[in-house]
Amino acid sequence: MFWVISLLCMGAFARTCFPNAIPHLDRVNITFDDIMMPIGIWQNAWDSSGIVSQIYKIIASEKLGFFVNEEIGPASELILGKLAGCSHQGFAITGDCGAPRRFHVSFENWLTGSPWTQQWLEDLIPYGVPMDLGSMGYEGKSGMFVLSGSLNAALADSGLALSFYRSYNASWFDPSKYTEPVDNVDLNRLKKCADSAEIGYPGIAELYLRITGDTGGMNTSTY
Ligand SMILES: *[C@@H]1O[C@H](CO)[C@@H](O)[C@H](O)[C@H]1NC(C)=O
Ligand SMILES: *[C@@H]1O[C@H](CO)[C@@H](O)[C@H](O)[C@H]1NC(C)=O
Ligand SMILES: *[C@@H]1O[C@H](CO)[C@@H](O)[C@H](O)[C@H]1NC(C)=O
Repeated sequence: MFWVISLLCMGAFARTCFPNAIPHLDRVNITFDDIMMPIGIWQNAWDSSGIVSQIYKIIASEKLGFFVNEEIGPASELILGKLAGCSHQGFAITGDCGAPRRFHVSFENWLTGSPWTQQWLEDLIPYGVPMDLGSMGYEGKSGMFVLSGSLNAALADSGLALSFYRSYNASWFDPSKYTEPVDNVDLNRLKKCADSAEIGYPGIAELYLRITGDTGGMNTSTY
């Protein structure tokens, strides 16, 4: 009978990674904002953040003995706000920040070096500003993307590598052959920079123009 019960118990609790993991029954919550709660991981939707988050979870629960809970969000823009207890919808923090703050760690913020991070941090001072504990040990950069349809069409047609910025020099190449011309885009489905990107990233249109020199691609009277 004893064996049947212990087998049932093992089945009832999730399998552990370490053979000598601290058992579920011995794990504890933390007390944060005067409330007992599990350590909260604000996990980001891409694989590399997921892997590191789950490694942290395994160590914090199986080796340190804490309950750990995670929720998954779609974008780095949310990380600072979620650690400050804010609500969110889609890609945007919607307010309601502060206690109880249920998320305490997040791995892989792609905006750590961005000029907007400092402003977001200042907005969060009243609720507790998350601390940057340093590099994950690897770096990445992200930016604008070309859809694979255009990329493959250019490669197949003329060997033009749209994955390389120098291929965009209009003195030499005509990358627009492989993308949708503006006339084919329904402008009603687009927003002006001022009504979209500039809200979260003030000055991004100016930055884009300064870096690309793309005067032909922007209407500066209306951004
Ligand atoms: C840990 O905290 C959670 C959420 O507050 C609660 O549901 C659970 O009962 C707590 N568990 C223990 C053992 O304190
Ligand atoms: C584009 O190519 C022209 C002609 O070689 C060159 O003068 C110009 O500097 C290039 N532009 C950029 C942004 O590299
Ligand atoms: C820029 O936008 C303004 C206002 O909508 C318009 O009058 C002007 O023709 C546009 N310029 C170009 C080059 O499209």
